[in-house]
Amino acid sequence: MSTFRSIEWKGDRLVLLDQRNLPEQTAYLELKTAEEVAKAISQMIVRGAPAIGVAAAYGIVLCARKLSKDDNPLERLREADEILRSSRPTAVNLFWALDRMKRIWDQFNGSLEELKILLEKEAIKIENEDVEMNKQIAKNGAQLVPFGAKIIHHCNTGSLATVDYGTALGVIRYAHEIGKKIHVFLDETRPRLQGARLSAWELKELGIPHTIIVDGASGLVMKKFKVDLVLVGADRIAANGDTANKIGTYNLAIVAKYHNVPFYVVAPTSTIDLKTPTGEDIPIEERSADEVRRVGSTLVAPQESSVFNPAFDVTPAQLISGIITEKGIVYPPFEENLSKLFEST
Ligand code: MRU
Repeated sequence: MSTFRSIEWKGDRLVLLDQRNLPEQTAYLELKTAEEVAKAISQMIVRGAPAIGVAAAYGIVLCARKLSKDDNPLERLREADEILRSSRPTAVNLFWALDRMKRIWDQFNGSLEELKILLEKEAIKIENEDVEMNKQIAKNGAQLVPFGAKIIHHCNTGSLATVDYGTALGVIRYAHEIGKKIHVFLDETRPRLQGARLSAWELKELGIPHTIIVDGASGLVMKKFKVDLVLVGADRIAANGDTANKIGTYNLAIVAKYHNVPFYVVAPTSTIDLKTPTGEDIPIEERSADEVRRVGSTLVAPQESSVFNPAFDVTPAQLISGIITEKGIVYPPFEENLSKLFEST
Protein backbone atom coordinates (compact mmCIF):
# COMPACT_ATOMS: atom_id res chain seq x y z
CA MET A 1 0.00 0.00 0.00
CA SER A 2 1.15 3.54 -0.71
CA THR A 3 1.15 6.17 2.02
CA PHE A 4 -1.61 8.05 0.17
CA ARG A 5 -4.74 7.20 -1.82
CA SER A 6 -5.45 9.02 -5.09
CA ILE A 7 -9.05 7.91 -4.82
CA GLU A 8 -11.09 6.69 -1.86
CA TRP A 9 -14.73 5.72 -1.57
CA LYS A 10 -16.29 6.67 1.77
CA GLY A 11 -19.76 5.16 1.34
CA ASP A 12 -21.50 8.50 0.70
CA ARG A 13 -18.74 10.52 -1.03
CA LEU A 14 -15.67 10.15 -3.20
CA VAL A 15 -12.43 11.58 -1.84
CA LEU A 16 -9.80 12.56 -4.40
CA LEU A 17 -6.24 13.68 -3.86
CA ASP A 18 -6.08 16.92 -5.87
CA GLN A 19 -3.22 16.19 -8.28
CA ARG A 20 -3.07 19.70 -9.68
CA ASN A 21 -0.99 21.11 -6.87
CA LEU A 22 1.27 18.19 -5.99
CA PRO A 23 3.94 18.04 -4.68
CA GLU A 24 3.59 21.53 -3.19
CA GLN A 25 0.22 20.90 -1.58
CA THR A 26 -1.43 17.65 -0.50
CA ALA A 27 -5.12 18.52 -0.50
CA TYR A 28 -8.13 16.22 -0.70
CA LEU A 29 -11.49 17.07 -2.25
CA GLU A 30 -14.83 15.47 -1.36
CA LEU A 31 -17.25 14.90 -4.22
CA LYS A 32 -20.94 14.12 -3.87
CA THR A 33 -22.35 14.24 -7.40
CA ALA A 34 -21.62 12.73 -10.83
CA GLU A 35 -21.25 16.28 -12.22
CA GLU A 36 -18.51 17.02 -9.69
CA VAL A 37 -16.72 13.80 -10.66
CA ALA A 38 -16.92 14.67 -14.39
CA LYS A 39 -15.47 18.11 -13.64
CA ALA A 40 -12.68 16.59 -11.53
CA ILE A 41 -11.77 14.31 -14.46
CA SER A 42 -11.73 17.10 -17.05
CA GLN A 43 -9.76 19.42 -14.74
CA MET A 44 -7.28 16.61 -14.04
CA ILE A 45 -7.83 16.62 -10.28
CA VAL A 46 -7.93 12.88 -10.87
CA ARG A 47 -5.97 11.65 -13.90
CA GLY A 48 -4.34 8.56 -15.37
CA ALA A 49 -6.44 6.12 -17.38
CA PRO A 50 -7.28 3.54 -14.67
CA ALA A 51 -7.99 6.16 -11.97
CA ILE A 52 -10.32 8.03 -14.33
CA GLY A 53 -12.29 4.81 -14.93
CA VAL A 54 -12.70 4.10 -11.22
CA ALA A 55 -13.72 7.70 -10.45
CA ALA A 56 -16.35 7.60 -13.22
CA ALA A 57 -17.80 4.34 -11.83
CA TYR A 58 -18.24 6.07 -8.46
CA GLY A 59 -19.80 9.03 -10.30
CA ILE A 60 -22.62 6.66 -11.30
CA VAL A 61 -22.90 5.42 -7.70
CA LEU A 62 -23.17 9.02 -6.45
CA CYS A 63 -25.94 9.72 -8.96
CA ALA A 64 -27.84 6.55 -7.99
CA ARG A 65 -27.60 7.25 -4.25
CA LYS A 66 -29.68 10.43 -4.58
CA LEU A 67 -32.48 8.91 -6.63
CA SER A 68 -35.99 8.13 -5.49
CA LYS A 69 -38.43 6.16 -7.66
CA ASP A 70 -40.31 9.35 -8.63
CA ASP A 71 -37.17 10.76 -10.24
CA ASN A 72 -37.24 8.63 -13.40
CA PRO A 73 -34.06 6.85 -12.23
CA LEU A 74 -33.00 5.39 -15.60
CA GLU A 75 -33.21 8.81 -17.25
CA ARG A 76 -31.08 10.38 -14.46
CA LEU A 77 -28.52 7.57 -14.76
CA ARG A 78 -28.43 8.03 -18.53
CA GLU A 79 -27.69 11.75 -18.05
CA ALA A 80 -24.95 11.07 -15.51
CA ASP A 81 -23.42 8.44 -17.81
CA GLU A 82 -23.37 10.94 -20.69
CA ILE A 83 -21.79 13.73 -18.62
CA LEU A 84 -19.08 11.37 -17.37
CA ARG A 85 -18.41 10.01 -20.88
CA SER A 86 -17.80 13.52 -22.17
CA SER A 87 -15.24 14.41 -19.47
CA ARG A 88 -12.12 13.20 -21.37
CA PRO A 89 -12.06 11.40 -24.73
CA THR A 90 -8.83 9.41 -25.03
CA ALA A 91 -8.46 7.00 -22.10
CA VAL A 92 -10.63 4.00 -22.92
CA ASN A 93 -10.73 2.90 -19.27
CA LEU A 94 -13.32 5.65 -18.72
CA PHE A 95 -15.69 4.06 -21.25
CA TRP A 96 -14.80 0.53 -20.14
CA ALA A 97 -15.77 1.30 -16.53
CA LEU A 98 -18.95 3.16 -17.53
CA ASP A 99 -19.93 0.25 -19.81
CA ARG A 100 -19.59 -2.12 -16.85
CA MET A 101 -21.80 0.13 -14.72
CA LYS A 102 -24.29 0.55 -17.57
CA ARG A 103 -24.65 -3.20 -18.01
CA ILE A 104 -26.09 -3.19 -14.49
CA TRP A 105 -28.44 -0.19 -14.58
CA ASP A 106 -29.59 -0.58 -18.18
CA GLN A 107 -31.25 -3.94 -17.81
CA PHE A 108 -32.21 -3.89 -14.15
CA ASN A 109 -35.82 -4.53 -13.26
CA GLY A 110 -35.67 -5.00 -9.49
CA SER A 111 -36.16 -2.31 -6.83
CA LEU A 112 -34.24 0.97 -6.85
CA GLU A 113 -32.68 0.14 -3.48
CA GLU A 114 -31.35 -3.16 -4.88
CA LEU A 115 -29.96 -1.32 -7.91
CA LYS A 116 -28.10 1.13 -5.66
CA ILE A 117 -26.46 -1.76 -3.81
CA LEU A 118 -25.47 -3.53 -7.04
CA LEU A 119 -23.96 -0.38 -8.55
CA GLU A 120 -21.89 0.32 -5.45
CA LYS A 121 -20.68 -3.30 -5.40
CA GLU A 122 -19.61 -3.08 -9.05
CA ALA A 123 -17.67 0.17 -8.51
CA ILE A 124 -15.88 -1.34 -5.49
CA LYS A 125 -15.09 -4.41 -7.61
CA ILE A 126 -13.61 -2.25 -10.39
CA GLU A 127 -11.53 -0.43 -7.76
CA ASN A 128 -10.23 -3.60 -6.10
CA GLU A 129 -9.51 -5.35 -9.39
CA ASP A 130 -7.30 -2.43 -10.42
CA VAL A 131 -4.92 -3.00 -7.51
CA GLU A 132 -4.78 -6.77 -8.12
CA MET A 133 -4.15 -6.29 -11.86
CA ASN A 134 -1.35 -3.81 -11.18
CA LYS A 135 0.44 -6.22 -8.85
CA GLN A 136 0.26 -8.97 -11.46
CA ILE A 137 1.45 -6.57 -14.19
CA ALA A 138 4.39 -5.63 -11.96
CA LYS A 139 5.42 -9.28 -11.52
CA ASN A 140 5.12 -9.97 -15.25
CA GLY A 141 7.07 -6.85 -16.18
CA ALA A 142 9.87 -7.26 -13.65
CA GLN A 143 11.18 -10.28 -15.63
CA LEU A 144 12.22 -7.83 -18.35
CA VAL A 145 14.19 -5.58 -16.00
CA PRO A 146 17.87 -6.58 -15.74
CA PHE A 147 19.82 -6.18 -12.49
CA GLY A 148 21.17 -2.62 -12.26
CA ALA A 149 18.87 -1.46 -15.08
CA LYS A 150 18.62 2.12 -16.20
CA ILE A 151 15.05 2.87 -17.22
CA ILE A 152 13.35 5.86 -18.87
CA HIS A 153 9.74 6.55 -17.90
CA HIS A 154 7.29 9.12 -19.29
CA CYS A 155 4.39 10.92 -17.53
CA ASN A 156 2.96 9.39 -14.35
CA THR A 157 1.69 5.81 -14.19
CA GLY A 158 1.99 5.17 -10.46
CA SER A 159 -0.41 4.97 -7.51
CA LEU A 160 -1.64 8.44 -8.42
CA ALA A 161 -2.74 7.33 -11.89
CA THR A 162 -4.37 4.12 -10.65
CA VAL A 163 -6.00 3.02 -7.41
CA ASP A 164 -2.68 1.80 -6.04
CA TYR A 165 0.71 0.47 -7.12
CA GLY A 166 0.62 1.68 -10.74
CA THR A 167 1.36 0.17 -14.15
CA ALA A 168 4.77 1.16 -15.63
CA LEU A 169 5.76 2.67 -12.28
CA GLY A 170 4.36 -0.50 -10.68
CA VAL A 171 6.92 -2.57 -12.63
CA ILE A 172 9.61 -0.13 -11.50
CA ARG A 173 8.41 -0.31 -7.90
CA TYR A 174 8.38 -4.11 -7.85
CA ALA A 175 11.80 -4.35 -9.54
CA HIS A 176 13.14 -2.06 -6.78
CA GLU A 177 11.39 -4.06 -4.04
CA ILE A 178 12.96 -7.33 -5.20
CA GLY A 179 16.42 -5.76 -5.12
CA LYS A 180 17.20 -5.10 -8.79
CA LYS A 181 19.10 -1.90 -7.96
CA ILE A 182 17.52 0.13 -10.73
CA HIS A 183 17.85 3.80 -11.61
CA VAL A 184 14.98 5.66 -13.26
CA PHE A 185 15.19 8.67 -15.57
CA LEU A 186 11.89 10.54 -15.38
CA ASP A 187 10.81 12.65 -18.34
CA GLU A 188 9.43 15.85 -16.81
CA THR A 189 6.47 15.59 -19.25
CA ARG A 190 5.52 19.03 -20.45
CA PRO A 191 3.11 20.75 -20.29
CA ARG A 192 1.48 19.38 -17.09
CA LEU A 193 4.74 18.04 -15.65
CA GLN A 194 3.33 14.73 -14.46
CA GLY A 195 6.86 13.27 -14.52
CA ALA A 196 8.56 16.00 -12.52
CA ARG A 197 5.70 16.70 -10.11
CA LEU A 198 4.02 13.34 -9.65
CA SER A 199 6.34 10.48 -10.62
CA ALA A 200 9.31 12.09 -8.87
CA TRP A 201 7.16 12.57 -5.76
CA GLU A 202 6.07 8.92 -5.79
CA LEU A 203 9.60 7.58 -6.35
CA LYS A 204 10.97 9.87 -3.63
CA GLU A 205 8.33 8.53 -1.18
CA LEU A 206 9.30 4.95 -2.14
CA GLY A 207 13.06 5.59 -1.93
CA ILE A 208 13.65 4.60 -5.58
CA PRO A 209 16.76 6.24 -7.10
CA HIS A 210 15.73 8.61 -9.89
CA THR A 211 16.79 11.60 -11.97
CA ILE A 212 14.40 14.06 -13.62
CA ILE A 213 15.25 14.97 -17.22
CA VAL A 214 13.62 17.40 -19.65
CA ASP A 215 11.65 15.60 -22.36
CA GLY A 216 14.21 16.52 -25.03
CA ALA A 217 17.09 14.88 -23.11
CA SER A 218 16.12 11.23 -23.69
CA GLY A 219 18.37 10.82 -26.78
CA LEU A 220 21.42 12.11 -24.96
CA VAL A 221 20.60 10.03 -21.87
CA MET A 222 20.27 6.84 -23.97
CA LYS A 223 23.61 7.50 -25.63
CA LYS A 224 25.53 8.59 -22.54
CA PHE A 225 24.14 6.25 -19.86
CA LYS A 226 23.34 3.08 -21.86
CA VAL A 227 19.66 2.89 -20.95
CA ASP A 228 18.34 -0.71 -20.76
CA LEU A 229 14.66 -0.13 -21.43
CA VAL A 230 11.81 2.36 -21.66
CA LEU A 231 8.59 1.76 -19.71
CA VAL A 232 5.48 3.84 -20.42
CA GLY A 233 1.76 3.57 -19.69
CA ALA A 234 -1.15 3.76 -22.12
CA ASP A 235 -4.48 5.49 -22.44
CA ARG A 236 -5.76 3.31 -25.26
CA ILE A 237 -4.22 0.44 -27.16
CA ALA A 238 -5.85 -0.16 -30.56
CA ALA A 239 -6.42 -3.68 -31.95
CA ASN A 240 -3.23 -3.45 -34.07
CA GLY A 241 -1.08 -2.39 -31.06
CA ASP A 242 -0.87 1.34 -31.88
CA THR A 243 -0.85 3.03 -28.48
CA ALA A 244 -2.12 6.42 -27.33
CA ASN A 245 -0.27 7.80 -24.33
CA LYS A 246 0.86 11.14 -22.97
CA ILE A 247 2.20 13.57 -25.57
CA GLY A 248 5.91 12.94 -26.07
CA THR A 249 5.65 9.14 -25.89
CA TYR A 250 5.91 8.87 -29.70
CA ASN A 251 9.12 10.96 -29.75
CA LEU A 252 10.55 8.79 -26.99
CA ALA A 253 9.73 5.61 -28.94
CA ILE A 254 11.51 6.92 -32.06
CA VAL A 255 14.59 7.84 -30.04
CA ALA A 256 14.52 4.39 -28.37
CA LYS A 257 14.33 2.68 -31.79
CA TYR A 258 17.36 4.64 -33.04
CA HIS A 259 19.37 3.62 -29.97
CA ASN A 260 18.16 -0.02 -29.96
CA VAL A 261 16.57 0.41 -26.53
CA PRO A 262 13.56 -1.89 -25.94
CA PHE A 263 10.35 0.12 -25.61
CA TYR A 264 7.59 -1.46 -23.49
CA VAL A 265 4.01 -0.32 -22.98
CA VAL A 266 2.58 -1.34 -19.59
CA ALA A 267 -1.20 -1.45 -19.14
CA PRO A 268 -4.10 -3.51 -17.80
CA THR A 269 -6.26 -5.29 -20.40
CA SER A 270 -8.98 -2.68 -19.66
CA THR A 271 -6.81 -0.26 -21.69
CA ILE A 272 -6.88 -2.50 -24.77
CA ASP A 273 -9.67 -1.51 -27.14
CA LEU A 274 -10.23 -4.15 -29.79
CA LYS A 275 -13.14 -2.11 -31.15
CA THR A 276 -10.67 0.58 -32.25
CA PRO A 277 -8.81 -0.89 -35.24
CA THR A 278 -5.76 1.42 -35.39
CA GLY A 279 -4.23 4.49 -33.77
CA GLU A 280 -5.84 6.64 -36.48
CA ASP A 281 -9.21 5.85 -34.90
CA ILE A 282 -8.26 6.97 -31.36
CA PRO A 283 -9.74 10.35 -30.42
CA ILE A 284 -6.98 12.64 -29.21
CA GLU A 285 -7.87 15.25 -26.61
CA GLU A 286 -6.71 18.81 -27.20
CA ARG A 287 -6.37 20.96 -24.11
CA SER A 288 -6.19 24.69 -23.47
CA ALA A 289 -3.45 26.90 -24.91
CA ASP A 290 -2.70 28.26 -21.45
CA GLU A 291 -1.33 24.87 -20.34
CA VAL A 292 1.55 25.55 -22.77
CA ARG A 293 1.81 29.31 -22.45
CA ARG A 294 2.08 29.13 -18.68
CA VAL A 295 4.04 27.14 -16.14
CA GLY A 296 1.81 27.22 -13.09
CA SER A 297 0.50 30.77 -13.05
CA THR A 298 3.61 32.25 -14.73
CA LEU A 299 3.30 33.30 -18.36
CA VAL A 300 6.29 31.87 -20.29
CA ALA A 301 5.16 32.66 -23.86
CA PRO A 302 3.42 35.60 -25.53
CA GLN A 303 -0.29 35.47 -24.75
CA GLU A 304 -0.93 36.23 -28.45
CA SER A 305 1.05 33.26 -29.87
CA SER A 306 -1.00 30.39 -31.19
CA VAL A 307 -0.59 27.03 -29.48
CA PHE A 308 -1.28 23.40 -30.46
CA ASN A 309 -1.74 21.32 -27.34
CA PRO A 310 -2.66 17.67 -27.96
CA ALA A 311 -2.68 15.85 -24.60
CA PHE A 312 -1.72 12.51 -26.17
CA ASP A 313 0.02 11.05 -29.19
CA VAL A 314 -0.05 7.64 -30.83
CA THR A 315 3.03 5.43 -30.92
CA PRO A 316 2.85 3.09 -33.93
CA ALA A 317 2.94 -0.60 -33.08
CA GLN A 318 6.22 -1.09 -35.05
CA LEU A 319 8.04 0.96 -32.40
CA ILE A 320 6.74 -1.14 -29.48
CA SER A 321 8.80 -4.14 -28.31
CA GLY A 322 6.04 -5.59 -26.13
CA ILE A 323 2.90 -4.82 -24.14
CA ILE A 324 3.00 -5.88 -20.50
CA THR A 325 -0.44 -6.75 -19.10
CA GLU A 326 -1.80 -8.66 -16.08
CA LYS A 327 -2.41 -11.62 -18.39
CA GLY A 328 1.17 -11.74 -19.64
CA ILE A 329 3.51 -9.98 -22.05
CA VAL A 330 2.22 -9.57 -25.59
CA TYR A 331 4.76 -9.48 -28.43
CA PRO A 332 4.29 -8.66 -32.13
CA PRO A 333 2.37 -9.41 -34.27
CA PHE A 334 0.04 -7.44 -31.97
CA GLU A 335 -3.03 -7.69 -34.21
CA GLU A 336 -3.02 -11.45 -33.71
CA ASN A 337 -1.65 -11.67 -30.17
CA LEU A 338 -3.79 -8.97 -28.56
CA SER A 339 -7.01 -10.69 -29.60
CA LYS A 340 -5.64 -14.07 -28.39
CA LEU A 341 -5.26 -12.46 -24.95
CA PHE A 342 -9.03 -12.03 -24.77
CA GLU A 343 -9.83 -15.46 -26.22
CA SER A 344 -7.90 -17.10 -23.39
CA THR A 345 -10.39 -15.90 -20.69
O1 MRU B 1 -3.29 13.39 -19.02
P1 MRU B 1 -3.00 12.31 -18.01
O2 MRU B 1 -2.10 12.74 -16.92
O3 MRU B 1 -4.28 11.66 -17.52
O4 MRU B 1 -2.22 11.21 -18.86
C1 MRU B 1 -1.77 10.05 -18.21
C2 MRU B 1 -1.02 9.13 -19.10
O5 MRU B 1 -0.82 9.38 -20.27
C3 MRU B 1 -0.63 7.81 -18.50
O6 MRU B 1 0.58 7.35 -19.06
C4 MRU B 1 -1.74 6.77 -18.77
O7 MRU B 1 -3.00 7.28 -18.42
C5 MRU B 1 -1.50 5.51 -18.02
S1 MRU B 1 -1.66 5.72 -16.27
C6 MRU B 1 -1.47 4.19 -15.57
